[in-house]
Amino acid sequence: MNTSTSSSASRALPRIAVLATGGTIAGAAPDATNTSGYQAGVVGVGQLLAAVPSLAGVANVQAEQVASVDSKDMALALWTTLAQRINTLLAADDVDGVVVTHGTDTLEETAYLLHLTVKSDKPVVLTAAMRPSSALSADGPLNLLNAVIVAGSANAKGQGVLVAFNNRIHSARDVVKTSTYAVDAFQSPEIGALGWVQDGRVELQRSGVRPHTAATPFSADAAWPVVEVVTSYAGVSRVAVDALVAAGVQGIVVAGTGNGSIHATVQAALAEAAAKGVAIVRSSRVGSGHVMRNGAAADDALGFVTAGALNPYKARVLLMLALAAGHTTPVALQQVFDTY
Ligand code: SIN
Repeated sequence: MNTSTSSSASRALPRIAVLATGGTIAGAAPDATNTSGYQAGVVGVGQLLAAVPSLAGVANVQAEQVASVDSKDMALALWTTLAQRINTLLAADDVDGVVVTHGTDTLEETAYLLHLTVKSDKPVVLTAAMRPSSALSADGPLNLLNAVIVAGSANAKGQGVLVAFNNRIHSARDVVKTSTYAVDAFQSPEIGALGWVQDGRVELQRSGVRPHTAATPFSADAAWPVVEVVTSYAGVSRVAVDALVAAGVQGIVVAGTGNGSIHATVQAALAEAAAKGVAIVRSSRVGSGHVMRNGAAADDALGFVTAGALNPYKARVLLMLALAAGHTTPVALQQVFDTY
């Protein structure tokens, strides 16, 4: 367990690059009480920074507008651009850390992607907001300030990619969005946050144990394999699985019920797909817990891989990176899922 605390005021200001990608943090609505009918990603990074004058007291900030998207529209090509830009910035001696402003909707996927593909131990911190920048009590400015403080903290070095949101600091591997509207929208189910950031102070109570960043073989530079997600539920048919296999996907993640259990109809279709060489990863739609190998399905016999504690969308990220890195057999892929 690692417990550490620091104040940014007692040392030279860190040099932090803020990369903006859009999202509600950069959203604007026609009036200050509108927190649902707004347009995401329309406010530029200069305006976001100008709304937080106290940034000048905690870091020397340089800013870039990498994209201006609603993160529901996040594209694989933008992931590649973002990972490459972060790796370039962090390789420079004059950048101490990176903050990425992002939409909340796919933040957990981008964060885990960067956790596995950034090749530096310098801090990378994602943040976002649930209320647009125009809102009464917008949450973006304080989240941005806190993210910059975390990115400038020596304690955040070597922790992998972090998410600073509503005063908590989460590991990219663990964090998920758990509310459609609440300001406290991100949690790390089962495991909890790594720590807190409040009033300029960063406190980490623990570290993740799985390898990340430079300790992985993964890269966002290669062509992205086609991997899709299907769900198991009452009365589900095999139409989606059969269509994906016919379309030539390289992998399918199934969001199973409970401990990753799968409706017999879909399981039969997935077993046929696995026999044809499609990588099948069994995860759960439940939202917390983990999926045990050879528990709710005979993974060894069916040629399936289990996702452990990764939710279906993070399991898809890892499966794409693993396939791109040349891990294709169920045994090799299970090793990847058991490691990262
Ligand atoms: C988005 O994900 O870009 C829109 C929603 C949000 O940021 O809360």
